[in-house]
Amino acid sequence: MSRVFSGVKPTADVPHLGNYIGAFRHWVSLQEQHECFFCVVDLHSLTVPWDPKTLSLRSRQTAASLIASGIDPERSTLFLQSEVPEHTELSWFLTCIARMGELSRMTQFKDKSRNDKGEAIGTGLYMYPVLMAADVLAYRADLVPVGDDQRQHLELMRNIADRFNRTFGETFPVPAPFIAEAGARIMSLDDPSRKMDKSSSRPNNLVWMNDKPDIVRKKISGAVTDSGTEIKRAEDKPAISNLLAIYSAVGGSSVEQLEQEYAGKGYGDFKSDLAEALVEFLDPFRARYEEILDDPAQLDKLLDGGADVAREAARETMKIVREAVGLRRPSR
Ligand code: TRP
Repeated sequence: MSRVFSGVKPTADVPHLGNYIGAFRHWVSLQEQHECFFCVVDLHSLTVPWDPKTLSLRSRQTAASLIASGIDPERSTLFLQSEVPEHTELSWFLTCIARMGELSRMTQFKDKSRNDKGEAIGTGLYMYPVLMAADVLAYRADLVPVGDDQRQHLELMRNIADRFNRTFGETFPVPAPFIAEAGARIMSLDDPSRKMDKSSSRPNNLVWMNDKPDIVRKKISGAVTDSGTEIKRAEDKPAISNLLAIYSAVGGSSVEQLEQEYAGKGYGDFKSDLAEALVEFLDPFRARYEEILDDPAQLDKLLDGGADVAREAARETMKIVREAVGLRRPSR
């Protein structure tokens, strides 16, 4: 049984369909066969300016949406990063072996700091991938399910783990990325060349997981389509390919089955069936999400329990790390 770790930033009150299809859905199936740690990485959201008034609520909402997506807190360890101080402690050790060169090469850092002048770029943004490495290595996890955009961070994490092992002795498994196949990347409804994105200013680019049925129908009927009439996955049909991927993920049929089912039918039929499949899929999510947030005491209990399990596992690692780097007094 491998140990799996993944994290999600609490940046919005609910996830959108792309987050579910591209990430949470895989987490849910990984928990069937692995020992999983799923973490709301609230400290990572401090790498860009944040609102202290909403931070904690957002983290809870994110945890609730993971449970509503099918993460079972009885089976997996679900917790908030800031409640396990070992993440920041390990992060310091890793900071001391990370290199300016490798951190400066991170494209996410370059993208996010592009608008700031050198002197004003936040150090947290720079160290982001080191904290991320600490998240995973604190549990000596083997497998890290992430989106395609995190590939480079994973590579850095592997280099850091390997450097630590070579310098101080075998301590960490070098974690492997688990990146879902290309079709799982969900694109914007209004522009299939761009990722479905919560920070976009175009509200119809995405479906929120708690969108009401009428909104879902409106967004799907307004989604752009490609020229031609055929319902087929193809390079030159990015919009229909994206809608097929969504339909397949929420409706349970494969893309090939859907292509057969809709052979000879038009975009209109296809879109209205997709909208209904999506409504049916989102209904239980919305109900469960609201139910969880209506009982904050129960959610607290779950998160406390998760933090206890996580802390114990991370403490175990830190004992080994402190010893390896030479911080243990000989007499103890
Ligand atoms: N950087 C990841 C993202 O933006 C979130 C994250 C933080 C993470 N720590 C992690 C993912 C550890 C996997 C493992 O999606």
